[in-house]
Amino acid sequence: MKKRIAVSSFKGGTAKTSTALHLGAGLAKFHKQKVLLIDLDAQANLTTGLGYDPDAQDSMAPVLQGTKKIEDVIVKTSVKNLDLIPADTWLERVEVTGALAGDRYSHERLKEILRPLNYDTIILDTPPSLCWLTESALIAAHNSIVCATPEFYSIKGLQRLSEFMESISQRHQLEVLGVILSFWNPRGKSNDAFLEVINTAFPGKILNTKVRRDIRVSEASVFGKPIFETAPKSRASEDYLSLTKELMKRM
Ligand SMILES: Nc1ncnc2c1ncn2[C@@H]1O[C@H](COP(=O)(O)OP(=O)(O)O)[C@@H](O)[C@H]1O
Ligand SMILES: [Mg+2]
Repeated sequence: MKKRIAVSSFKGGTAKTSTALHLGAGLAKFHKQKVLLIDLDAQANLTTGLGYDPDAQDSMAPVLQGTKKIEDVIVKTSVKNLDLIPADTWLERVEVTGALAGDRYSHERLKEILRPLNYDTIILDTPPSLCWLTESALIAAHNSIVCATPEFYSIKGLQRLSEFMESISQRHQLEVLGVILSFWNPRGKSNDAFLEVINTAFPGKILNTKVRRDIRVSEASVFGKPIFETAPKSRASEDYLSLTKELMKRM
């Protein structure tokens, strides 16, 4: 079954990009899936994290504007069967320019563009706000993954995010697949309190897998490769592998 998954949260620094990258790489590398990652954040961390220079490639921007075909902006990565559509600064406010500016249904374009593609899984990495691109990604997706960290700033907007997703799911098929906690400290004193707040916003959705804090994650992004290739024995590699398996079961 073909799946489209949006990775989102209200905030920056909740490991959205790392989660999108490693879920994609995990599905391609260990589950024989053909995967497309789409970087929708003008900050382009997913793009650089896979070894690409964001200023040297096209992004989804001209595709959304109708001036390029999607096939022409897809690039290969170092992982077999893992493709990428890079981001660039043109994504910033793309909805107020060109053909998108006058289109009342502009936020449904992404869904129409992705529908005919032949990938087992398409993963959309979104900006850290409920902007037009994030809404487009959630509308285009069958499932969403919510990212959070065990810090109060991170869990503060979760109720809003939950309501936002709920309102989209009334008109489009969208189901929350799970909430993933990163930067996890198994001995954190406030863990139970955080889990309770998250469970109120997304009942029953917290994933068993937690991704522990591991410097190897940021190191891997410097090499432009997933951690499975740069530090396969690290604990984050182990956690991302188990996350991939858990999500496969939920899908
Ligand atoms: N489990 C982790 N342990 C340590 N550092 C991490 C971990 N996950 C992500 N990071 C690092 O934290 C920063 C923010 O992560 P990122 O995935 O870019 O978050 P977001 O996309 O939500 O802003 C990046 O530098 C990333 O390499
Ligand atoms: Mg990011």
